[in-house]
Amino acid sequence: MKLPIYLDYNATTPVDKRVLEKILPYFTEHFGNAASRSHLYGWTAQDAVENARQQIADLIGAEAKEIVFTSGATEANNLAIKGLYELFSTSKNHIITVETEHKAILDVCKHLEKLGCETTYLKPDSAGLISLEQIENAIRPETFLISVMYANNEIGTIQPIREIGALAHKNDILFHTDATQVLGKVAIDVDADNIDLLSLSGHKLYAPKGIGALYIRKKSKASQLIAQIDGGRHERGYRSGTLNVTGIVGLGEACEIAKNELLAENQRLSILRDKLEQGILQNIADVQVNGNIENRLPNLTNISFGGVDGENLLMSFRDIAVSSGSACTSATVEPSYVLKAIGLDDNLAYATIRFSLGKFTTEEEIDFTIKYVKEVVESLR
Ligand SMILES: Cc1ncc(COP(=O)(O)O)c(C=O)c1O
Repeated sequence: MKLPIYLDYNATTPVDKRVLEKILPYFTEHFGNAASRSHLYGWTAQDAVENARQQIADLIGAEAKEIVFTSGATEANNLAIKGLYELFSTSKNHIITVETEHKAILDVCKHLEKLGCETTYLKPDSAGLISLEQIENAIRPETFLISVMYANNEIGTIQPIREIGALAHKNDILFHTDATQVLGKVAIDVDADNIDLLSLSGHKLYAPKGIGALYIRKKSKASQLIAQIDGGRHERGYRSGTLNVTGIVGLGEACEIAKNELLAENQRLSILRDKLEQGILQNIADVQVNGNIENRLPNLTNISFGGVDGENLLMSFRDIAVSSGSACTSATVEPSYVLKAIGLDDNLAYATIRFSLGKFTTEEEIDFTIKYVKEVVESLR
């Protein structure tokens, strides 16, 4: 068993070897620019891009032409929200979102507020859930967008996406969801789930970093959103810039693998996750599990340890690679705003660990982790 054990799959994942194999020829013999229309090199790259577009669409029940490639979910979120704000700003200027969204949503809204946008940040309950009633009460005549993440990256809570989408549509409001953490873990159907725009990212799904996509519903006002990167009118003008063919091929392949393996893999992961969680709960005093236990990501458990100093806790976990909150915010030493929003005090938020399992997690690693966490926590106490 290799140490440290990687239990931070919600921060990023290794590239699946099958994905890597598919990508490699596009660095060398098939190196063409997908926008080169006059020769075989370009056509080969373009065919690969269109094949990947279909693979991604198939995973979420979309049409290939509804997929726009971006550099990741951060850019997809920026494109969705800024692009719609720019489209609507002369008539409507209000967005509804949630306090526990990723910074790639919250900071976009903060930016737009400087330009005249108004945002309502809904406060979730102690499980991280928001209710339809909260949304209904926040809707104004000027609301053009509801943006609610499919599942939270720190606590794993899955929101009632289908119902939120239906409520948005009933009120003639567009619905965007950041599904970065959900792709390949929960079955997504953009039609049944009433989603107009969906952000996704390759590196949470065993594809490379620096590739992602925005799903944009063709038959909705969302399709008129204003591009945020102008240039050579790639991606039908939605996002200019030479396509990252290797990343795109990888993302497509990762989506196809996820579609074929999703059910079995997530069943395996939830069994291992439950074993880890129960092992910690039963063997260590004064611990609590955060998030919505009934409906959350199958590979994740977020656990607070009472009576220990948070920084010491994370530093002491030398043999396991875990996260004390979102990896994307761990550059700052603030307690997690997600944990604070669901009611944890600063001390407990600091002493909280996110364990996230993935494709290469074994039962042996879980058994080791349970014993190891017990030893470390008890020695710190
Ligand atoms: C929910 C969520 N949204 C967006 C992002 C950012 O994605 P990317 O790294 O592809 O920009 C992350 C990454 O942690 C995330 O978890």
